[in-house]
Amino acid sequence: MAKNAKRKIAFVGSECYPFVKTGGLGDVMYALPRALVSEGCEVRVILPLYACIPQKYKDQLEYKGSFMMDQTQEGRTFFVGIMEMKMDGVTYDFVENREFFDWGNPYTGLWEDIPKYCFFSKASLAILNYLKWAPDVIHCHDWQASLVPLYKRTKFWDTPVGAAKTVLTIHNLRFQGICGIQHLKYWSGLRDDLFDYPVLKWNEDEANMFKGGLAFADMITTVSETYAQEIQTGAYGEGLDAHLRYHSPRLHGIVNGIDVEQWDPAADRLLAAQYNADNAVEQKKINKGALQEKLGLEQDGHKMVLGLISRLTDQKGLDLVDAIFPRLIDGNTQVVILGTGDPRYENAFRYFEGEYKGSVCAYISYNETLAHLIYAGADAFLVPSLFEPCGLTQLIAMRYGTVPVVRETGGLKDTVAPFRRDCNEGNGFTFDRYDAGLLLDAVNNAKTVYFTERQAWDEMVKRNMNKDVSWESSAAKYLALYDELIQK
Ligand code: ADP
Ligand code: GLC
Repeated sequence: MAKNAKRKIAFVGSECYPFVKTGGLGDVMYALPRALVSEGCEVRVILPLYACIPQKYKDQLEYKGSFMMDQTQEGRTFFVGIMEMKMDGVTYDFVENREFFDWGNPYTGLWEDIPKYCFFSKASLAILNYLKWAPDVIHCHDWQASLVPLYKRTKFWDTPVGAAKTVLTIHNLRFQGICGIQHLKYWSGLRDDLFDYPVLKWNEDEANMFKGGLAFADMITTVSETYAQEIQTGAYGEGLDAHLRYHSPRLHGIVNGIDVEQWDPAADRLLAAQYNADNAVEQKKINKGALQEKLGLEQDGHKMVLGLISRLTDQKGLDLVDAIFPRLIDGNTQVVILGTGDPRYENAFRYFEGEYKGSVCAYISYNETLAHLIYAGADAFLVPSLFEPCGLTQLIAMRYGTVPVVRETGGLKDTVAPFRRDCNEGNGFTFDRYDAGLLLDAVNNAKTVYFTERQAWDEMVKRNMNKDVSWESSAAKYLALYDELIQK
């Protein structure tokens, strides 16, 4: 391709901020296209038109056309509507179909999600053809979009979109889209020979959508270099480690960034006081006071506030937090937890809130406004994950001058360098083995520096705020990868 020609990239995924987000995938689907547009690409993002998308965005959508598409083994046809909007240089095309997407939340259980995302993946390619927009690269995200490479190389191979290259990014290998072979055969309508072991077959009875996508994508990426290595091992591979080792020549790790305009403490109107690296130490105190007041915590600027914002699932290392909770509270420390998920953790953290009134707040909900105030008002931030493909919360915390305490896994290892007293370097406190005692040691080390070596702490706050956590260098890596594919 000519050096100055605009590369055309289509993103296909199941969530995207600000329309619909349940975790970091939504952030990446928002931020990476914007970063690519700044690098001179033309980007279209294709998403399902879920019922839960706020009306204010639905009101901005423009009808671009519709058609009937055959889906399923027996060729049942379904309506595909295209609703479009543009925002900051990125074009968003929403796939409309009430049968599949009118259930409210994006994920409603695998039995429905399998047909939903088979339809979505095929419709994404059909839409690109309908719009006569032939991308150079189709960048697919997680299992929900993982049939795109298969459809592209089979049903669409001789159509305009068939000339595109595909990239499949693994954001989280735990979710793979596994179901009975007959169920997937029926809903995908894909050829029988694709249900063999090298592609979709998972075991005697089941098929695995992610596995098939990984076999057929032209390039595979995941969201940190360490996770790219980890998933090739039995401990982290979720049963796909051998498959990934086999396909490893096409597997690359590129660490996520965050959108530094969306997450900018100097301009964040959701904070009690905006700040930059030079006035963070003073201004963060104002945010801490506002946070304590809002959450009914004891109003005391001298307390160290530990923050945690997370989906409450086993992935996030919450059993370690649960195990050491009583020992985190020592009269000088407060803990703020924001999250929803597994009732086991919701109940445990609610219990601790009742047990340590005034020192602990367990805010069991999804709340973006409160998230901003926690990132700004907390002193340290806990991310002790069992596994973490990249993790964005530690990046946001650093950008807001809040010191992360993390387990050395996946993207946490790649983005948080351990604090070194001898040379006053590093970004946070880290531990390696998945062990509650080691998490406690890391928190205690953080407390020691916070309470007794405040100058070193404040320097770390400043260092973290000045650290480059933007998308710039990673977007350039994706671009280089796209170019490599385009030239093939
Ligand atoms: P994951 O994608 O595994 O959930 P990430 O760290 O990549 O983890 O991304 C999590 C994203 O979701 C961050 O933007 C974080 O601020 C946000 N988030 C998680 N839980 C909540 C919540 N309860 N309320 C608001 N935002 C949340
Ligand atoms: C996944 C991972 C998280 C990553 C996010 C965005 O949800 O759990 O580590 O940051 O995707 O890539």
